[in-house]
Amino acid sequence: MINEKPKFYGRRQGRKIRKAKGNLLDVFLPQIKIDTQKNFQETFNQSFAKTCLEIGFGDGTHLAGIAKNNPEIGFIGVEVFKNGVANLLTLLTGIKEGHELPQEINLADGRNDNIRVFDDDVRILFNYIPDASLDKVFVLFPDPWPKKRHAHRRLINQENLQVISRILKKDGILVIATDHRVYKGWALRQTLESNLFDWTAKTSNDWRNEPEGWVQTKYQKKAIREGRKPVFLIFKKK
Ligand SMILES: C[S@@+](CC[C@H](N)C(=O)[O-])C[C@H]1O[C@@H](n2cnc3c(N)ncnc32)[C@H](O)[C@@H]1O
Repeated sequence: MINEKPKFYGRRQGRKIRKAKGNLLDVFLPQIKIDTQKNFQETFNQSFAKTCLEIGFGDGTHLAGIAKNNPEIGFIGVEVFKNGVANLLTLLTGIKEGHELPQEINLADGRNDNIRVFDDDVRILFNYIPDASLDKVFVLFPDPWPKKRHAHRRLINQENLQVISRILKKDGILVIATDHRVYKGWALRQTLESNLFDWTAKTSNDWRNEPEGWVQTKYQKKAIREGRKPVFLIFKKK
């Protein structure tokens, strides 16, 4: 682990977190939180043939959805924004504001124990993930930081692409989705210039349409409502 915290430019907390969500953060999060003192191989209680990572899962809609639809896959979700993490916990437990907190908090019926969470900067977690450990990495609707002078804050950059390539298995997949005019070109150029990934798209439908089995994210829904067209850039590790 690195000793110094990387500089994070986004928000760590928004609106005041109310009682139920606060309790979920205190009581349930530790049950599914990644313990970086353990071996990475012990992340889950069972072994999964495949492991995926979602970086910046926001309110957790996509992460909770794909984890429910794919019980045979282990998912690691990373998010700095405390309110987002709390929302994911609500989705996983079904406990909402106004509910009495039960003696013991468990996953809601129909939920699988296949999600682990890291509630801090992904760059801290990167150091803990061994080479060739992941099958897929999702970076969905990352903060665009559209101003040129803020470009160094963008999550898709050469440094992070190097790490993502390192932690992906052979033929591992990187999925980047964005609706932002500037970020579309940026993400494609950065990834191709890294020379670490091949773009899998053969026709425009391959990047215009949602990949199979997709679950829409909160930011994706907002973009669609506001008339922006998301792109789905899918890369295979070379
Ligand atoms: C624009 S939001 C998109 C959220 C979600 N993926 C969606 O599509 O609804 C980007 C998210 O990435 C998170 N994020 C940005 N940089 C991060 C980092 N270095 N580590 C972990 N999360 C990060 C932010 O906190 C924010 O919630």
